[in-house]
Amino acid sequence: MRLSWLLSLPAVLTVASAIAIEKRDADFLSVRTKMHKDMSGRGGDPKDKYFRKSLSLSQGAGIYESVFHPHYDGRFADHQLGYRERKQALSNLIQTYLATMADIGVETWLMHGTLLGWWWNRKILPWDSDSDVQVSESSMHYLASYYNMTVFHYKTPRIPEGRDYMMEINPHYTNREQSDKMNVIDARWVDTTSGLFIDITTARYNFTHPSGEGMLSCKDGHEYRDTYIYPLRETFFEGTPAKIPFAYKEVLEAEYKQKALTQTSFEGHHFDEDKLEWIPVNKKGIVEAKKKADESRKQEEQKQKEKLSQDKKVEEQKNQEQQALGKPETKAPVAQQPNAHQADSSKPDGPQVAKQPTKSDQQPPSAQHDADAQKVKEEEMRIANLKANEEERKVKESAAREEEKRKEEGKTNGSKR
Ligand SMILES: *[C@@H]1O[C@H](CO)[C@@H](O)[C@H](O)[C@H]1NC(C)=O
Ligand SMILES: *[C@@H]1O[C@H](CO)[C@@H](O)[C@H](O)[C@H]1NC(C)=O
Ligand SMILES: *[C@@H]1O[C@H](CO)[C@@H](O)[C@H](O)[C@H]1NC(C)=O
Repeated sequence: MRLSWLLSLPAVLTVASAIAIEKRDADFLSVRTKMHKDMSGRGGDPKDKYFRKSLSLSQGAGIYESVFHPHYDGRFADHQLGYRERKQALSNLIQTYLATMADIGVETWLMHGTLLGWWWNRKILPWDSDSDVQVSESSMHYLASYYNMTVFHYKTPRIPEGRDYMMEINPHYTNREQSDKMNVIDARWVDTTSGLFIDITTARYNFTHPSGEGMLSCKDGHEYRDTYIYPLRETFFEGTPAKIPFAYKEVLEAEYKQKALTQTSFEGHHFDEDKLEWIPVNKKGIVEAKKKADESRKQEEQKQKEKLSQDKKVEEQKNQEQQALGKPETKAPVAQQPNAHQADSSKPDGPQVAKQPTKSDQQPPSAQHDADAQKVKEEEMRIANLKANEEERKVKESAAREEEKRKEEGKTNGSKR
């Protein structure tokens, strides 16, 4: 069966044609385009984890992270993109996602780092390598019922040959429990050329939340009072109509602290108030930013790993105790989110954000990884060099002026809207 949609998009994207080919239940051989990437030879993540890392086809379906970077889908990617290429690919990714969801009537909104990018200049933060969005539970049911494995083909002026984007739904989306830690991501929108993807998580009403009615919980541990999310606000992101949470500022502050909303120097970039752009400070800055991002990613992954094994230990211990007491085994304990707990008691009406790393463990570096890293570095150096002279002067000039201006604005409204 073939379905066609004609999508109307803003000028930025100008889709010449968009055809959705239904590939429901497509087997992975038919969508996999880069077959030579199983370089891991390692077991990978547990079998129950749908969005797992192992690359062997024999291990069955699942959304695979590549061995070289958890933000690339290993079925489609064999290398990391350079700074500018990645920015472009991520922009196309979110544009096509937002346009498609609007077209098929799925309510979705920007979250996490993507929302922070919106706050600054309605664009993806240039140091980000993924995007985050949320959907309601009914939207997720709808997507799972009609669009799993559907491939949408988009042609743009930048990509005249067209590109396929695929919607893939984690079959564990029906498990609403936060204890299902291996499947915290409910779906992905995947660029089948670059392997980059958008993580889609469901915000579900939590009927047993200690804070009472109206609490939304995501499997990744984030929790929000619904009045902070709904009614969604209409806006633009990367030039495409988009939606954001109603209390976007409070949501951002709870997740990233106030400083992230005002600090104009971050991750080796400086925010240019005139251009409304994050500019790499210099080539040193950009390399350092990458290093820092890589390091924090590794730490995050390590933490997640430790947490998983700790949870397992606790579970085993509990079971042993119970067996010793002769009681029947109960369900696995639901691990408490310490942050969520704190937020609960101190700020009962707050957006209730709890952070929890969601990425799985990092593979040790390989020769391929090193070569990729070198390529990325070279590309970044080249771009940074081109920009450095021009930008550095401007950045320095405007830095002091900007900081003053921002402080002043912060006093009055602090908002960039
Ligand atoms: C989506 O399709 C893939 C491939 O057929 C399958 O493994 C997965 O379970 C499906 N997801 C849902 C929610 O049915
Ligand atoms: C509801 O909230 C509690 C407290 O945060 C959490 O432990 C539980 O897993 C949540 N339930 C669902 C279905 O999200
Ligand atoms: C609020 O901030 C915006 C943009 O930063 C600025 O243009 C506006 O004048 C500020 N509003 C007030 C009341 O100061």
